[in-house]
Amino acid sequence: MARTTIADLAAKKRAGEKWVMLTCYDHVTASVFEDTGVPVLLVGDSAANNFLGEENTIPVTTDELIPLARAVVRGNTTALVVADLPFGSYETGVSDALATGIRFFKEAKVQAVKLEGGKKVVPQIEALIAAGIPVMGHLGLTPQSVHALGGFKVQGRGDDGQRIKEDARALQKAGVFALVLELVPASLGREIAEELSIPIIGIGAGNGCDAQVLVWTDLMGLTPKPPKFARKYLDLRSIMISAVESFTADVKSGEFPSPNETFE
Ligand code: KIV
Repeated sequence: MARTTIADLAAKKRAGEKWVMLTCYDHVTASVFEDTGVPVLLVGDSAANNFLGEENTIPVTTDELIPLARAVVRGNTTALVVADLPFGSYETGVSDALATGIRFFKEAKVQAVKLEGGKKVVPQIEALIAAGIPVMGHLGLTPQSVHALGGFKVQGRGDDGQRIKEDARALQKAGVFALVLELVPASLGREIAEELSIPIIGIGAGNGCDAQVLVWTDLMGLTPKPPKFARKYLDLRSIMISAVESFTADVKSGEFPSPNETFE
């Protein structure tokens, strides 16, 4: 199977076919996800809190994310791999955004990048696209601005929905191939998905979006306190604990290693 392209995602939107995106931060998980046929993987800056032990996404750097993105690209030959531009690597202007995007393209070999923000980052988006780097947008709750937003709160309620709609239109006009909409009322998610021609990928944005994204450790039940909008499809944390307990018990009892697992 060939790697998903941005044209494939546009075709899914035209056909009304829903799809999923998952975050991914390492090679082995990326290879598991290849077996599922998931069309898009996001090497999110959520690696900061879900992989590197940070409190939020703000501290992660380009130097930290690039090796993770490279491992994901090597581990999965069928998904479109998108990498987040970390906080501080693009807000400062077009030339920083270009330099970061080019590093992700050359060093990690991702097929697209994602960055957070509306109208104010349009110059960066246009420059990246002009350089041949497809860009995914991100509006609503933008975690890199968590302090400015006063916490992880629903965005776009009431009149504020208009601001998010205007930003979404500006991003589509700038050429983003898809847009993540995080933590907004379901009605707003649906309205934006209906109005725009690009795929809208929801996370806590209701089921009117064209696609849904989850942080993979939330979906698998590894995250101790997942957000309300995440659904746990597996209790992998308990399964892993029980596997390690079984291993420990087998070693203590002398049952492991058995003759089968031993060399003469
Ligand atoms: O970094 C991330 O995981 C994200 C998703 C929440 C979309 O940006």
